[in-house]
Amino acid sequence: MTNPPSALQRPQDWWRDAVIYQVYPRSFADSGGDGLGDIPGLISRLDYLANLGVDAVWISPFYSSPLHDGGYDVADYRSIDARLGSMDDVDSLVAEAHARGMRVIMDIVPNHTSSEHAWFQEALNSEPGSQAWDRYMIREGKGTDREEPPNNWRSVFHGRGWSHMRDADGEPTGYWYLHLFDTTQPDLNWENPEVHAEFRDILRFWFDRGIDGFRIDVSHGLVKEEGLPDFDHPEQFSGLPGFDEEHVANHENMFDADKAHAPYWDQDGVHDIYREWRAVADEYDPPRIFCGETWVPNPERLARYQRPDELHTSFNFSYLDAGWDADAMRTSIDDTIRNHATVGAPPTWVLSNHDVVRHRTRLAPLATDGTADLGRGLDRARAATLFTLALPGSMYIYQGEELGLPEVSDLADDARQDPAWPRSGGTDGKRDGCRVPIPWTPELPSFGFSSSGAAWLPMPAYWSGLSVADESEDPQSTLEFYRSALRIRRELDALGEGSLQWEDSPEGVLAIRRLSDTGNVLAVLNTTDSPVRLPSSWGSDVLLASGPEIALLDDDGVEMLVVGGETAVWVRR
Ligand code: GLC
Repeated sequence: MTNPPSALQRPQDWWRDAVIYQVYPRSFADSGGDGLGDIPGLISRLDYLANLGVDAVWISPFYSSPLHDGGYDVADYRSIDARLGSMDDVDSLVAEAHARGMRVIMDIVPNHTSSEHAWFQEALNSEPGSQAWDRYMIREGKGTDREEPPNNWRSVFHGRGWSHMRDADGEPTGYWYLHLFDTTQPDLNWENPEVHAEFRDILRFWFDRGIDGFRIDVSHGLVKEEGLPDFDHPEQFSGLPGFDEEHVANHENMFDADKAHAPYWDQDGVHDIYREWRAVADEYDPPRIFCGETWVPNPERLARYQRPDELHTSFNFSYLDAGWDADAMRTSIDDTIRNHATVGAPPTWVLSNHDVVRHRTRLAPLATDGTADLGRGLDRARAATLFTLALPGSMYIYQGEELGLPEVSDLADDARQDPAWPRSGGTDGKRDGCRVPIPWTPELPSFGFSSSGAAWLPMPAYWSGLSVADESEDPQSTLEFYRSALRIRRELDALGEGSLQWEDSPEGVLAIRRLSDTGNVLAVLNTTDSPVRLPSSWGSDVLLASGPEIALLDDDGVEMLVVGGETAVWVRR
């Protein structure tokens, strides 16, 4: 068989069915020994990613930042955090990734800057009505002494969404700035043309350096409803995906408010911004691409971001939210595909990222003692991954899921760095649990993450056996399973973009057929805990299974496949 084309050999459409690997750079690989992952560390592991078989890497922010929100607080969009590397390192990263046939996607944060950004520093030293103030959402307070914030909006990270502008002596003034996230993340004013021009320029700055695209942070934010009306915040929050009672009580979902049409999410005006950005991306050859972090209430609202002159793709969080529930998964798949078809865009699929509980833990059933059954969690995670990789469109993989890493739910309170942790009084802000560094070797204490043994978050000793080195030697490991899945997905025309047909299947079982001229593939996911017998007409030529519970049954000379509980399988047809 000839080698399937790499992402670089399909310059126009590679993103339509790519497998994109998310790197959280502080936690990937540390070359400097300070316990913080960095760009040279990432470069040293590009062979690992190429060998895993991904088409592109998306790297969470590595700009200059005080790191109050893991780099999503950008102090300078045109420079690199010195702790993570230099501009030369980024140039090498792009060259080295491209040399291995992989694309590089950066992360852009347009809803807010860091309070250490030169613009906000200028605003702090400027007067009401100044040009510097107009770049941010700064308003007079309410009340006789303007001691009340301009409206009742809350921060996604808990508490008030507004903080006082302060004078040179640090005294509060009657003016307030909006921060939908941490106090150190002032929201930009997207009514101001200067903000538009600045971001177009930032895009070009990086595109000119060879960056292939951007993931857009909080892409459903940016534009706020005119008049900044009060918002009737839902009292009951349902929880960030995966953070249920077992992980944290009374958790607020980061973006739960968007389900209730908050006046700061998913405003129609945001689409004008993406039309401008698309025009910039299309100036390049090959065109650069975007993927929005778009938390919206339903797949219909999501598809609006993928209209032909807007973003290429967006994350499809309805599927991530569906949990281990065949009906909910099927509904999300159907709605997503149908709505994306109306705008001619391919869907994306994602099961884990740096903001949600890792899917091995999130999908795990509760054991009798009330803790997550991580053994079954791994079975389910592998099965969900295999089935998802057979869906049409592109797929995002979060670093460490290919090792089957569980969430680290027992981090010490004083180790936590999520800004929502102190703001919620320790009831929320547990995102550090999915950001613990990657184990590369069996060596404690930092499993080869850094040469010095340092790690910015402690790595649990019970991860022994889950390192890249350990799993590379075990043909049954989750890592080898991911490698096989990605290789087969790349080799077979039926997987990737294209249409999908559902097969009739028993309750709790999902079965899809993917068609191509060179052969069809059937993907089956059994979410029940009992084996299911597949009809003989579905064939028995197993390409890959997520677990060992696969058996061939010879029933009166007819071969049938039996798929174990909580297992997925790909069958050639
Ligand atoms: C996005 C990021 C998250 C960050 C937030 C504020 O949701 O994924 O990590 O905290 O935006 O920038």
